[in-house]
Amino acid sequence: PEKPVIIQGAMPIEAEKLANRLENVQTEKSGNFVFYKGTLNQYPVIVVKTGKGMENTAAATALAIEKYQPVAIINQGTSGGHDPGLHVFDIVLGKRVTHIGSFKTTDKEEGEGTDPSTWKPMDLMASEGSAGEDKNAEKIRYYEGDPELLKAALAVKNQYKNGKVVEGTIGSADLWNNEMDRIQWYHEKYGTSVEEMEGASAAQIADAYDVPFLGIRILSNNKTNAGKYNPDTAEACQEYVYHVVSKYISML
Ligand code: 5AD
Repeated sequence: PEKPVIIQGAMPIEAEKLANRLENVQTEKSGNFVFYKGTLNQYPVIVVKTGKGMENTAAATALAIEKYQPVAIINQGTSGGHDPGLHVFDIVLGKRVTHIGSFKTTDKEEGEGTDPSTWKPMDLMASEGSAGEDKNAEKIRYYEGDPELLKAALAVKNQYKNGKVVEGTIGSADLWNNEMDRIQWYHEKYGTSVEEMEGASAAQIADAYDVPFLGIRILSNNKTNAGKYNPDTAEACQEYVYHVVSKYISML
């Protein structure tokens, strides 16, 4: 049997439209996760409603890999812009995905306060030793988007009419940043185009199992250019991802 393509969405509005477009759907539940197992152009595709955040996504990714041996995983959904050149409804293809909530603080004594702008990125995958002691762990880890998935996504970008489709860097953490200077700090230090709460978690697990991975994120909000939150973006993203998956399947 052919290995399925897995498409992840965190919230109901980010998963159910796509699940409804599959054929021959059978629903399976495990913990808080819902697996919509179906076909797209006769090829097996599984939409997974993961729930929000890094923990839910990591667990849902590992479980899906063990259960279904996917040929590829796409993590998609809404995000907040870090780049003033991107607008609500634009889509970022994750050429890179990175964790933006993993830090080592500086040394300060009692009464010296706390200053997040001085915190150093901490790469928990740098070694098996203590990340607190290991200088080599003081760096940003980027997960590269799979070239074939990126190729498929770029090949259908003209079919997306609600905004532009660009390659960029997706930053993930269980964080919603509304401080303009903080957003700017990430944009400069990490090169982030957008932030969300799942992509880097799925990418880390997909990488551990050598499963091709791509993050695809639509901007549902962008504080840097007063882009107000619009939940309709979730559906637009799924519509585009449908075309990406059709294309990818045709390339297999
Ligand atoms: N910051 C963080 N997460 C965001 N999301 C949309 N916009 C943002 C933002 N500005 C996504 C996350 C999470 C949910 C809150 O929406 O991925 O699943």
